[in-house]
Amino acid sequence: MKKKILLTGDRPTGRLHLGHYVGSLKRRIDMMTEHESYIMVADVQALTDNFDNPQKVRDHVFEVVADNLATGIDPKKVTYFIQSQIPQIAELTVFYSNLVTIAELKRNPTIKSEIAEKTKLFGQNGESVTFGFLGYPISQAADITFLNAEIIPVGEDQKPVVELSRDIVRKFNKLYGKTFTIPKAVVGEIPRLLGLDGKKMSKSLNNAIYLSDTKEIITKKIKKAVTDSENKVIFDPKNKSGVSNLMTYYQIATNKSYKEIEEEFKNITYYIEFKEKLIEELDAFLSPIRERRKVFEENPQII
Ligand code: TRP
Repeated sequence: MKKKILLTGDRPTGRLHLGHYVGSLKRRIDMMTEHESYIMVADVQALTDNFDNPQKVRDHVFEVVADNLATGIDPKKVTYFIQSQIPQIAELTVFYSNLVTIAELKRNPTIKSEIAEKTKLFGQNGESVTFGFLGYPISQAADITFLNAEIIPVGEDQKPVVELSRDIVRKFNKLYGKTFTIPKAVVGEIPRLLGLDGKKMSKSLNNAIYLSDTKEIITKKIKKAVTDSENKVIFDPKNKSGVSNLMTYYQIATNKSYKEIEEEFKNITYYIEFKEKLIEELDAFLSPIRERRKVFEENPQII
């Protein structure tokens, strides 16, 4: 049986964090042998909101590949490539741009909320949004279809963008004859991990635990992390921002269920007891990733 093609991408604008890991990277590791897999460093897309800082994008090409390799994504099983090295993607973007209306782009939930977040770049009401940023889903459809990828592991926030790729493919196939496979977003087990402050984990909000964080940094971050007022380690699915969120970190690090975690900490007096154990477990979880990353930092020519 012919293997399906898997493609995913990372914007090289920062190091990868725990949210990336559970939202998308873990899926990649699980699925990469099953499919013909590609991981793209989306440097052209990264420029759409970093055109004023190309050096940042250049520097992070190395960092995101190092993070991916460090999590155990084997370059013998996966093809890594850099978006800007494939000019055909840009070419295809031009043709696809006829198949999407400005209105569709403007009401896409991902694009809408990203424009609203980037007030410094695009104005309070998005009045200065660029053509390039508004259109990045079109270029993403080209990323996906230039190798006819079908399985697209992404974080939950990217689902509407992949939805737009599906629309483009349907329209293209209808107009010009069946050419491309309709791609499908695959979201990780924890599609939207919260950060240390209870808001969405994000490099721009400064609330992330990075895959490359040292024990010292993890300790500082966890000690400051938001909990609740009661000193009880109980998972509340209705309010995941306090201690419940830290329990999710614990679950990621240990693979234990929430029930098991509640049981383990039912006799604590202060949250710090839970936090100290969480620091140990996170460190144990990230330590092999850090070790593998160190090899690439010391021998960048491997990458
Ligand atoms: N937009 C994606 C993100 O911000 C990155 C990306 C670019 C991507 N091209 C892609 C993801 C193609 C999947 C497929 O996370």
